[in-house]
Amino acid sequence: MNIKLAKNYGFCFGVKRAIKIAESTQNASTIGPLIHNNEEIMRLKKNFNVETLEDISHVSGTKKAIIRTHGIPKQDLQFLKEKKVDIIDATCPYVTKPQKICEKMSKEGYDIVIFGDEMHPEVKGVKSYASGKVHVVLHVSELAALKLSARVAVVSQTTRKVEEFKEIVSYLISHYKEVRVFNTICNATFENQDAARELSKESDVMVVVGGKNSSNTKQLLHISKEFCSDSYLIESERELEASWFEGKEQCGITAGASTPDWIIKKIIEKISNFKV
Ligand code: F3S
Repeated sequence: MNIKLAKNYGFCFGVKRAIKIAESTQNASTIGPLIHNNEEIMRLKKNFNVETLEDISHVSGTKKAIIRTHGIPKQDLQFLKEKKVDIIDATCPYVTKPQKICEKMSKEGYDIVIFGDEMHPEVKGVKSYASGKVHVVLHVSELAALKLSARVAVVSQTTRKVEEFKEIVSYLISHYKEVRVFNTICNATFENQDAARELSKESDVMVVVGGKNSSNTKQLLHISKEFCSDSYLIESERELEASWFEGKEQCGITAGASTPDWIIKKIIEKISNFKV
């Protein structure tokens, strides 16, 4: 049986960078889990003494605090500074960008529209940088109820779909005099999805690796199942069953954005050793 990895899979640039930062910082705390992968969180704790705190109020002034890829609200950053915590910023540069845009355009008097999920930590962070009027919308239909000034600046949560962002932008352009559009969507998630789609078309069994509570991993499973009904979602090699591979010729492997390479390697090894 052939085993083939998707063209793009696993960690995105921002997560790789955050993990490197955590490894080189050592003896630190992250506010919330650095990534949605328990095994990786445990590895960071065991090998680098990087622990995860539930809440910013638990940060101790004696330890370094690592800010996650999603970033944190401006007031939380201020709180850490007042506590004189040593701050290590692992916010993804693709998230820092909309934060800065929000701050600048707001200061220049633009009303800000953020396309995204109001409850998502990244959006909470970006929103906090606006000093004037700011609205978060998840669907174009919400725009009609907003009373915006003639000057509007719009940004997107990094993981949103460009087609939906275009609908928001198109509505704004037809209703307001001046609209500044900043495409802050990051393609990493979609690159993994496109690659999973391609690979599942040529595979007769697909293994999707990632956290069972991770939405982007579940999305990969959904895409894989569309083209390859024998698709399985696993978190570690322990869940693999030899029977899945009996009589199969082409096994495709993909992984969610929070899956480290060392887990994928163990999975490939175990599948290669099955006598099927
Ligand atoms: Fe950054 Fe995009 Fe990943 S915003 S954290 S590179 S999904």
